[in-house]
Amino acid sequence: MEDNKDINWKELDQKKDKWGKPLNLIPKANQATQAGYYEKWLRKPNEYEPSEEDIWCELQLQALSVWEPLKWEFDLGWFKKEIKQYDDKWVPYLRREGVTNDREGLCLMGMPGDKCSDSLSMPEARRRHNKKLWEIDFNAKTELYNDLESLHDMLEYFQPLGRTMLVKSNAGGWFPPHKDQPNLTRDTFRIVAFLSRTTQHDAYEWEMDGHRWPITPGKAYYVDTRKTHRTHSWMNNSIHLVVNVPKTWENVMKLISVTQNY
Ligand SMILES: [Fe+2]
Repeated sequence: MEDNKDINWKELDQKKDKWGKPLNLIPKANQATQAGYYEKWLRKPNEYEPSEEDIWCELQLQALSVWEPLKWEFDLGWFKKEIKQYDDKWVPYLRREGVTNDREGLCLMGMPGDKCSDSLSMPEARRRHNKKLWEIDFNAKTELYNDLESLHDMLEYFQPLGRTMLVKSNAGGWFPPHKDQPNLTRDTFRIVAFLSRTTQHDAYEWEMDGHRWPITPGKAYYVDTRKTHRTHSWMNNSIHLVVNVPKTWENVMKLISVTQNY
C-alpha cells in the first residue's frame, strides 16, 4: 500500500489516552505521500492523465460557482429525531498524533460489510483494508443510511454514491487547510449539507479560497473541494453531511439540474 508503507503502526498502536485507552491514531499528514502527484503520475500515468469524460465533467463543473446552493432544504427537526438513536455511536474522526481536535463522524456509505462506525476517513479505511482505495469503492449503504429517511430525497437522486459520512464538529473542532482530490482524474465530486442549527458563521465557519462562505442550516451545496479549504467550529454539535458523488457525465448533468440558482 503505497501511501502507508513507511508508517510505524506498532508504535502508534501502543499510544494511550489519559484514561489508558488506545488512541487509534493516524500519523501526521505527509506531503510526499498525500500530494506527490508528480511521482504518482510517473509511476501510473493512466491514473493521472484525464480521460475525455474527465475533461467534459471538469470543464462543466468549472462553470458552476465554487459554493453552489442546491434545491434541497432538509427538515432539521426530522433529521434530529432520526439521528438521536445514534447519540452514543459517534466515533472520533481521523485523530492525528499530538493534535487536539474534537470532531466525530458516522458513515452512511462505506465498504461492503461496514458499520456506521467504520470507514470514516480514507487513511483509516486504507489501513484496515491494506490497499489503495477510491471514494467510489465505498458503495455500500449502512444501516444508518437506511435510517436517515430525512436525507433520502437527495441521496437517492444520485445513487449509487461513493464514501458518504456525517461529521460532527464540537467547539474547538477543525480541519486544517487542505484540498480534496485536486487532480482532473478525481473519481468523485462533493456535495455538503448542513444539518444542525449550529452551522451558521457564529457557530461554524467554512473558509475556502480566501472567503468565508455563507451557510444556511438545512441547505445542501455543491462545493469545489479541489480549492484549498479549512473549517472551524465554535460550538458543539455542528453536524454536516459530506457526499461523494461519482464523477460521471450523467451525474454532472443531474447536478446542474438541481442548482437553486439556475
Ligand atoms: Fe475537505
